Amino acid sequence: MSRPRLYSGMQPSADSLQIGNYIGALIQWRDLQEAYEAFFSVVDLHALTQPNDPEELRQQTRRTAAQYIAAGIEPSKSTLYVQSQVPAHAQLQWVLSTMTGFGEASRMTQFKDKSHRYGADKTNVGLFTYPILMAADILLYQTDIVPVGDDQKQHVELTRDLAERFNGRYGETFRIPMPVIQRDTARIYDLQNPLAKMSKSAESDAGVVWMLDDPSVSAKKIMRAVTDSEGSVRFDKENKPGVSNLLVIYAALTGRQIPSIEDEYAGRGYGDFKKGLAEVVVEEFGPVRARALELLDDPAELDRILASNAARASEVAEKTLDDVYAKVGLLR
Ligand code: TYM
Repeated sequence: MSRPRLYSGMQPSADSLQIGNYIGALIQWRDLQEAYEAFFSVVDLHALTQPNDPEELRQQTRRTAAQYIAAGIEPSKSTLYVQSQVPAHAQLQWVLSTMTGFGEASRMTQFKDKSHRYGADKTNVGLFTYPILMAADILLYQTDIVPVGDDQKQHVELTRDLAERFNGRYGETFRIPMPVIQRDTARIYDLQNPLAKMSKSAESDAGVVWMLDDPSVSAKKIMRAVTDSEGSVRFDKENKPGVSNLLVIYAALTGRQIPSIEDEYAGRGYGDFKKGLAEVVVEEFGPVRARALELLDDPAELDRILASNAARASEVAEKTLDDVYAKVGLLR
């Protein structure tokens, strides 16, 4: 019996993923790849919406793929590939863009934030159509579920709307995907500004823990994380956002419940708690980092794995694209 389909991806927009990507997405991906037929892409076309040095983008694409594998995504089991190596993504995006309202696309909060931050003249059209390319990613694979952090929820909802619109106009073509968002870990916050989400594009590096950083650097960042003056290790998102964020990270990486961690550190100060978390982080990411660096030592082998996975992805994607092209009236 065929397994339900899963699709997700990340932008290769930095030399390393940050632990929000790991906790908000990669852990779920790894756990779900058994029960689902999974497709994981490195979305390099999406990354072109930001200024890039070409050689750096190529490196970051490999580095992102290596981190997927190091985190436990198995390229023999799941289809792990680079978006631009499957041309159907850009092709389907064009068709979907002709069915997306200008107002509808203008309402995407991530676009609004970014265009507001950079100003209209520095905002490229690719940033505007970015969610439509994401819809194409998902719909090409007849996806059932899309595990993401909560910042991507609106994009998955647009994807559902576009799929329903297309199906309504041309007959059953796309499966309607469901976003899957882990309530507790959907948003990991910046260690220096626990009201902002941790992000690869954060202005300051001090609050971002990178998966590929030297463990001692990550440990230092945790020791310096912003907390509060109360001194008790207690989850209270509203009044203690810094400590609560650290508790969420601790729980996610150990598989423990927050109350059991609160108990362990009851009556002890933040110093002890941070030291404990730093140890957890070093233990978790030490082996992941070592494995990723080992994979990056042999880029030819990595490229070979990615190419064969892209061929597998293409087979599925081409079928959907062909159906779409025929339905909208393109001469086959
Ligand atoms: P990206 O590259 O920004 O992030 C990759 C994944 O990590 C999650 N994430 C977080 N989760 C918790 N806390 C955080 N601080 C945090 N930061 C990031 C994101 O929610 C995401 O799941 N548009 C997407 C990439 C994409 C995609 C797709 C995803 C392109 N096509 C198709 C799913 C399906 C993006 O920019 O993710």
